[in-house]
Amino acid sequence: MAKQILVTGGCGFIGSNFIHYLLSGHDCNVTNLDKLTYAGNLDNLRDVEGNPRYTFVKGDIADRADVEAAFAAKIDGVVNFAAETHVDRSILDPDAFVATNITGTYRLLEAARKAGVDKFVQISTDEVYGSLGASGKFSEETPLSPNSPYSASKASADMLALSYFRTFGMPVVVTRCSNNYGPYQFPEKLIPLLVTNALEEKQLPVYGDGLNVRDWIHVIDHCRAVHMVLEGGTPGAVYNIGADNERANIEIVKGILAALGKPESLITYVKDRPGHDRRYAIDATKIRRELGFEVSIPFGRGIEETVRWYVENRGWWERIKSGEYAAYYEVMYKGR
Ligand code: NAD
Ligand code: TYD
Repeated sequence: MAKQILVTGGCGFIGSNFIHYLLSGHDCNVTNLDKLTYAGNLDNLRDVEGNPRYTFVKGDIADRADVEAAFAAKIDGVVNFAAETHVDRSILDPDAFVATNITGTYRLLEAARKAGVDKFVQISTDEVYGSLGASGKFSEETPLSPNSPYSASKASADMLALSYFRTFGMPVVVTRCSNNYGPYQFPEKLIPLLVTNALEEKQLPVYGDGLNVRDWIHVIDHCRAVHMVLEGGTPGAVYNIGADNERANIEIVKGILAALGKPESLITYVKDRPGHDRRYAIDATKIRRELGFEVSIPFGRGIEETVRWYVENRGWWERIKSGEYAAYYEVMYKGR
C-alpha cells in the first residue's frame, strides 16, 4: 500500500516544492499540515488541490488538537518543514519562533511517537552551527553555536528530535541544509527580494559590506536529498545537505542585476543585521557517501531559471508584496 506522508509547512517555499516533488512520480499519499502564516500560501499548491493523493489540513503544529487531527489517519512518515524561518523577523520578535520551532516540533514528536511512525525527518538548517571564518566547512560533528533567535530555536528542535531517538528509539533523522533558492520563495529572503525589487526598479538593500558568504543550493536538490533521507536515512543520524556553492552576497546581487539588465546604481548598502553570521559552508560528504546524493542543478542554470520564474510569475509575488508583507517591509527597511 502507498505510504502516507505527513508534510508540515507544505504551503511554504521548500514544503510546496517537496509536495510537488512527491506527487510527481513517487508512490505515496501526502497530508499537508500548515497554519497558513504570512509565509504559507495556498497558491503554491493550487495545481494539486484536486489530486486524490493530497489532503490539506489547516492547523498549528504547536496546537495539540490540530496535530491530533493530522494524525487521525494512519501516518507512516513525517517531514517537518513547518517553522518560522526569517532571521530578521526573529530579531524583531522571537515569540513565534519559540512557539512553532520548539513547542511545535515537540508536539509533532509526541504525536509521531504515539502513532509509531517509520521515519520522522526533522528539517533543520546549517545556521545551527553558527558562523565560519575564512576557511573550513560545517560537518555533522561541528558543535552547535547558533547566533540568532531563529537558529537557536532550530538547534533546540534538533536536540529535542535527537533525544526522541536516544530515549525512545524513535526513527528520527535530522537534515541540515544550506541556503535554498528557487521558485515559490517568499520575497523577504535575499534572492527573491533582489529579483522582485529589481523588476520594480526599487533599491536592492545589501547588509553591511555585502561580503557575507552563503552556500546556495537549488530547492529541488534539497527536496531530492530530503526524499533520500526519508527513504534510507539512518535513524538517529544527522545529514548535512549542500551543493559546494559559496557566494558573497554582493556577487549574487550583481549577477541578478546583470541577468535582468538593470543598473548597479540600484544597489544600496544598509545597516548590518545584528549578529550577522559571516560565512556558511557545508561539507556534504556524508549524504553523498551514505545515500548517493549528487547535486543535479548547477548554480548558473538554477539561478537563470529562478530569475525567469519570478519574471514569468509576477502575479504570484505582486499579490504577496501588496499585502501584509508591505507593512513588514516598511518596519524592516525604513531609515536603515
Ligand atoms: P517558509 O517560511 O517559506 O514556510 C514555512 C511554512 O510553515 C509556511 O507555509 C507556514 O505557513 C508554515 N508554518 C509556520 N508556522 C507554522 C505552525 N505553527 N504550524 C503549521 N505550519 C506553520 O520556510 P522555508 O524556507 O520553506 O523553510 C522550510 C524549512 O526548511 C524550515 O524548517 C527551515 O528552517 C528549513 N530550512 C530553510 C532553508 C532556506 O534556505 N529557506 C535552508 C535550510 C533549512
Ligand atoms: P537571508 O535570505 O535572510 O538568509 P539567511 O540569513 O537565513 O542566510 O539572507 C541571506 C544573506 O543575504 C544574509 O547574509 C543576509 C543578506 N541579506 C541582505 O544583504 N539584504 C537583505 O535585504 C536580506 C533579506 C538579506
